[in-house]
Amino acid sequence: MLPPPFVKFTTIFFATTFFFSLIHITSQQSDLESDCTGKWIHIRQLPSRFNLDLLSNCSTYEIFDNFCPYITNHGLGQKTHNRSRSWYRTDPHMLELLFHRRMLEYPCLTPDPESATAIYLPYYAGIDSLRYLYGPEVNSSFEHGLDLFHFVRHSDSPSIWERNYGHDHFLVMARPAWDFSQPLANDPTVWGTSFLELPEFYNVTALTLESRAYPWQEQAIPYPTSFHPPNLALLESWVKRVRRSRRTSLAMFAGGGGGVSGSPNVRRSIRIECENSTAQGEENGGGGGYGKLCDFVDCSNGICEHDPIRFMKPMLQASFCLQPPGDTPTRRSTFDAILAGCIPVFFEDLSAKSQYGWHLPEERYEEFSVFIPKEDVVFKGVKILDVLLGIPRAEVRRIREKLLEIMPGIMYRKHGSSLGLMTKKDAFDIAVEGTLQRIKSRLAEVAAQ
Ligand SMILES: *[C@@H]1O[C@H](CO)[C@@H](O)[C@H](O)[C@H]1NC(C)=O
Ligand SMILES: *[C@@H]1O[C@H](CO)[C@@H](O)[C@H](O)[C@H]1NC(C)=O
Ligand SMILES: *[C@@H]1O[C@H](CO)[C@@H](O)[C@H](O)[C@H]1NC(C)=O
Ligand SMILES: *[C@@H]1O[C@H](CO)[C@@H](O)[C@H](O)[C@H]1NC(C)=O
Ligand SMILES: *[C@@H]1O[C@H](CO)[C@@H](O)[C@H](O)[C@H]1NC(C)=O
Repeated sequence: MLPPPFVKFTTIFFATTFFFSLIHITSQQSDLESDCTGKWIHIRQLPSRFNLDLLSNCSTYEIFDNFCPYITNHGLGQKTHNRSRSWYRTDPHMLELLFHRRMLEYPCLTPDPESATAIYLPYYAGIDSLRYLYGPEVNSSFEHGLDLFHFVRHSDSPSIWERNYGHDHFLVMARPAWDFSQPLANDPTVWGTSFLELPEFYNVTALTLESRAYPWQEQAIPYPTSFHPPNLALLESWVKRVRRSRRTSLAMFAGGGGGVSGSPNVRRSIRIECENSTAQGEENGGGGGYGKLCDFVDCSNGICEHDPIRFMKPMLQASFCLQPPGDTPTRRSTFDAILAGCIPVFFEDLSAKSQYGWHLPEERYEEFSVFIPKEDVVFKGVKILDVLLGIPRAEVRRIREKLLEIMPGIMYRKHGSSLGLMTKKDAFDIAVEGTLQRIKSRLAEVAAQ
């Protein structure tokens, strides 16, 4: 918890640097005209109540956590330690801020909405939802988004919205889509706000941390990890470290495993199997040349969330990282694992395969991950560690190389990074490309109707 004066300072500092960056960036955009065909994006000017003002209430929602420390560095959070150049205490819910900051340095911005393929709404949807999810407006959660809609629909003339009925608009909502899918019946006991259920937003593309089983408006994009390198050399030295790292554990699981009692589920099976294998000791338990079969990192009560060292080290030392569904099917830890070259093991398709298609193409999953159906584990007694031990070492190395190929595309590099690093597409670049593609095909469909 930080004392209020610091909070205030952080916010003002944040707002000021934001606008300086804007001025600086718009002045360098001119020579890219030809490369920008079909990629122009217009940032819709929104009143500050839709973004920066929301940050001033960062200490209001005690249930959620005081998120003031995480808004610094344009949403990357504080550095893990003073001399760190790439590692931050990043909270994934701050993706709205860091995406906004990255958008400001996007090379194909245009002040003219008429010539833009896509219109970006710099609205901090997830942060604004806190007052409905945890705050005083829990009973009006069906209203989330109506104020925004009213603004974008009616504040200008000719209307930017009218041009394509909102089909060319997009925004970031840094929470699982479930949090915005409360049925419109206005029953506040059902979790969530109704933003994605409002017909007003059916045409808008929402980039979320997790999509529903049958998504319409939303597309899931990677959770931000804690790694945000500012230049190519730092990315390359990390990749080298990952490749060289000695993998002394076969598998690891980082999470709050819940108790070992309760109804059967895959998280519980993992915890039992993992703890039992650890208890067996290194000499007689170790198979396949591993010192340890399973490493369980207890992350109960969110203790790992802003402390990447707790889980990155064990991930660097393990061949496989178990990714059972958590409170929702996806978890940030999938992306931490990829970053550490720790091969993700999935137990249901909703955890990844049906989510991050732009960043992790569905047809490539077999190349970089392992799938063990959760039913086999929970009901048929399949032992996860036996399955993993059965994968030959050479195959493990091959899978890890594939993982390293896709790794740069799931991390969010630091804003204002070196030109060298900009030549590698990161999670932001891929998200923007995907959005433009999607909007173009939407507009083509609408035109054909
Ligand atoms: C901040 O919280 C106060 C008290 O809940 C509320 O009155 C105010 O409107 C909030 N400000 C913003 C920008 O949401
Ligand atoms: C880190 O920097 C802050 C502010 O510059 C300073 O107060 C703190 O003592 C430093 N911490 C270490 C471990 O050097
Ligand atoms: C929401 O509505 C319920 C039921 O009507 C009521 O008990 C509760 O106090 C309301 N909450 C707020 C924050 O107004
Ligand atoms: C969404 O698009 C359809 C046409 O595809 C249009 O009829 C409808 O009015 C649009 N919705 C809004 C809220 O603009
Ligand atoms: C742990 O392993 C032992 C020996 O392999 C086995 O008998 C026992 O049932 C296991 N315990 C659990 C909780 O799976």
